Amino acid sequence: PAAEQQLIDQIKTRLKKENAVIVAHYYTSPEVQALAESSGGCVSDSLEMARFGRDHSAETLVVAGVRFMGETAKILTPDKRVLMPTLEATCSLDLGCPADEFVEFCDAHPDREVVVYANTSAAVKARADWVVTSSIALDVVEHLSDQGKKIIWAPDRHLGSYVQRETGADMLMWDGACIVHEEFKARGILDLKQVHPDAAVLVHPESPASVIDLADHVGSTTQIIKAAQSLPNKTLIVATDHGIFYQLQKSAPDKQFIIAPTAGQGATCRSCANCPWMAMNELESLARVFDRDDNEVIVDAELGVAAMKPLNRMLAFAQ
Ligand code: 13P
Ligand code: SF4
Repeated sequence: PAAEQQLIDQIKTRLKKENAVIVAHYYTSPEVQALAESSGGCVSDSLEMARFGRDHSAETLVVAGVRFMGETAKILTPDKRVLMPTLEATCSLDLGCPADEFVEFCDAHPDREVVVYANTSAAVKARADWVVTSSIALDVVEHLSDQGKKIIWAPDRHLGSYVQRETGADMLMWDGACIVHEEFKARGILDLKQVHPDAAVLVHPESPASVIDLADHVGSTTQIIKAAQSLPNKTLIVATDHGIFYQLQKSAPDKQFIIAPTAGQGATCRSCANCPWMAMNELESLARVFDRDDNEVIVDAELGVAAMKPLNRMLAFAQ
């Protein structure tokens, strides 16, 4: 529609004027992803978002995602201005891991290497030895376990137990979960496979073990998109946020993608499996992003320095 195009043009003009670039996650809406792509920004998983923001020459990063992604950008490049459509876009994993309780937990187990998922606050990262995203969690934990290290893992218990099962590492686990992925049900996927016997199942590792057990491929959002392209199957059942369908359909247009069923939802549900915080990134809020005074990501300087270490360790390891 003409009004939407006008809004998009307006945002693009403003991005240029402010020397700013959009760094978006695959779970944002198709409109936001298309805008990021067509304005020189990026759409990616959380690891690549961190890398892109760090390496881009823009003075301002507009992070279309959730709070921890904005904080990661700010920690890695404290001299850049980092704006978000709203700072209220949080994550259930971040919310479920308050820094004071986490520090106490770590202090009680000083013999363990502290590995935290990127979906955490700057204060939690500041207490960590390593930060990982879902795309390299297995490799990092395997590397540590091979050196005989015992691990504290936080906050996602599903990703943690998947990593533990795959690597056999000694992991003491925090009890957090993603409210979106936790809802996927093995029963519903099995029912869907009856209707589509040739379908492959792609699963994000924040899903419960019973769902991961049914997967043909387990991986981060980027890894799921790559698997969708390379697997021979024409039909794919996808257990991750529905926002990813925009890229899946673009990267494999001849394939059929079906969202994995969640509790109490039909197999073709379109509004389920949507992160409520990712949904806060709308075109309207992006249009106002430079005009507000309550949406700049600020990270305490001392915490930022401490959190930068495990983040840089992750980025160096990922290279
Ligand atoms: P990715 O790193 O796979 O993009 O995951 C981020 C996230 O929040 C998943 O729910
Ligand atoms: Fe957090 Fe889950 Fe939303 Fe990802 S989908 S941002 S893990 S609540």
